[in-house]
Amino acid sequence: MNQQFLNDVLEGLNKKPQKTLPSKYFYDKKGDELFVQIMAAPEYYLTNAEMDIFQNKTDEMISALDIQPEINYNLIELGAGDGTKTFHLLDRMVSRGFQFEYMPVDISKNALTGLESMLNKRLPELKVIPQQGDYFVTLEQLKMNNKPKIVLVLGSNIGNLQDHLAAEFIYKLGANLKKGDKIVLGVDLIKAKEIVLPAYNDAKGITAEFNLNLLDRINSELNGNFNRQYFVHKPYYEENEGIAKSFLMSTIKQKVSVFGKEFEFDEGETIQTEISRKYKDEIIYQILSNTDIVLEKKIMDSNSLFADYILKRN
Ligand code: AVJ
Repeated sequence: MNQQFLNDVLEGLNKKPQKTLPSKYFYDKKGDELFVQIMAAPEYYLTNAEMDIFQNKTDEMISALDIQPEINYNLIELGAGDGTKTFHLLDRMVSRGFQFEYMPVDISKNALTGLESMLNKRLPELKVIPQQGDYFVTLEQLKMNNKPKIVLVLGSNIGNLQDHLAAEFIYKLGANLKKGDKIVLGVDLIKAKEIVLPAYNDAKGITAEFNLNLLDRINSELNGNFNRQYFVHKPYYEENEGIAKSFLMSTIKQKVSVFGKEFEFDEGETIQTEISRKYKDEIIYQILSNTDIVLEKKIMDSNSLFADYILKRN
């Protein structure tokens, strides 16, 4: 039994007036598979948009990062996934003769092994040093090797954090870097509801399944008895606010128990399962305002849907 998972679930379901569940628990084996399917869904524009940047703007990124041929870097990626976007940057840096080690960091040993073997095949000259474990523990250890660092935080993963927690994340990142080190922060940009909402409400229902899978996970790992027949996925987005939100709504008045604790749901009551923040420059500036990190450049895809912000530790 994962005690932290249990504590977080009980705490979230006890919250008033809005019940919540943390989105970080979406990613069990089934959840990982569903997320891969979401990224391939036509409505989920985020992945293609950031891919466009990595396919077409790597030279711009390399200049903005001010990468020097005579210096040896650590190129660190937090939450590397399958590396399909990063591949293009790695490929370009190798062919331009830059000296660096690529260090993908992930909690999942599996993800890292797959990524390493893909890169060994497709880019045999590249030195890959996978780092399994917690982001900040890993960065703290790497700080000691004294090599300049470039840290990639892609995919708008930071969007799952409330702004004050995103600020704390960036602050901690900076604390584990040295003056002059760089961050590439990939974020989804604020845009019309007509584009954002479908990305969280795809026609095939993969995102709905992704949310409902969390109830299945609670049932199997925490002895819960959610009946997914009586919950529906409800996404929400307002352009003014710029935050996509996902909810699971109870369609009937019902009681659910988790690990022997009972929770009551009214008909129509929701559990908030995720926030996916969308950004604009003002919000990025605000997040950076109490940190040692400054904004150097913004690189966007050809449709201006997504941005990779180049940040520097001062
Ligand atoms: C992986 C956090 C970037 O918020 O867009 C996709 C996760 N949730 N569909 C996002 C997600 C629903 C995704 N991130």
